[in-house]
Amino acid sequence: MALMFLTETMRAYRERDPAARSNLEVFLAYPGLHAVGIHGVSSFFWRRGWTTLARFISHIGRFLTGIEIHPGAKLGRRFVIDHGMGVVIGETAEVGDDVYIYHQVTLGGTSTAQGKRHPTIGNNVIIGAGAKVLGAILIGDGARIGANAVVVAPVPAGTTVVGIPARPVERDEKPRFDAYGQPSDPCLDPLLHEVDLLRSELTELEKKIANLAYERLI
Ligand SMILES: CC(C)(COP(=O)(O)OP(=O)(O)OC[C@H]1O[C@@H](n2cnc3c(N)ncnc32)[C@H](O)[C@@H]1OP(=O)(O)O)[C@@H](O)C(=O)NCCC(=O)NCCS
Repeated sequence: MALMFLTETMRAYRERDPAARSNLEVFLAYPGLHAVGIHGVSSFFWRRGWTTLARFISHIGRFLTGIEIHPGAKLGRRFVIDHGMGVVIGETAEVGDDVYIYHQVTLGGTSTAQGKRHPTIGNNVIIGAGAKVLGAILIGDGARIGANAVVVAPVPAGTTVVGIPARPVERDEKPRFDAYGQPSDPCLDPLLHEVDLLRSELTELEKKIANLAYERLI
């Protein structure tokens, strides 16, 4: 089982990091992989009530890798922490499958109250270097968080957010206008052209809906 997790995680590093050339290189030189492996051990003891031992193992992991993962945090499969130095993942954070984060990312809390106080990260999320995701908020599947963003509100699935506080990226992808009967490309099939325009409008509408949902959530 552990071997399967290790193999699929090493594959994830190689697929997503162009600098990773072989499984051996990933195994020897990727602190993110080491940190997640050490978290597997600390979490084992945490779940059995050996909390001080669990925290100590986690502390050793931090000493060796520069990555601090609380033993209570729940991590999904194929979790890639690239570079890693300065990453902090809090006690009640939950991370989905196929998540990719860079160095200096914090999944932190905003209150000292007990209970859920750290974010829940969906599947296939990318979090850029230096980003801080704070509070018991949900980051939807496939969301992308820009480098150095500070995220304090939920992010809808598939949305890219940047800045402080993080806001959805505005994209200028307005449908092209071509006068009827005068397509810019003479070889263009008018029917395909119409489909192209409808697709652009649909993408635009989807983004507006995502932005509205985001505004309702904050
Ligand atoms: C957020 C991100 C995923 C967006 O990528 P993208 O979809 O290709 O977006 P674009 O580059 O087209 O940028 C879209 C807009 O957001 C802005 N933007 C992009 N990243 C930003 C960031 N981190 N902070 C603030 N603004 C940002 C761009 O300037 C652009 O603005 P404009 O439309 O006014 O010109 C990407 O920029 C990012 O930050 N990735 C993290 C990479 C990282 O941490 N690398 C570390 C390697 S060691």
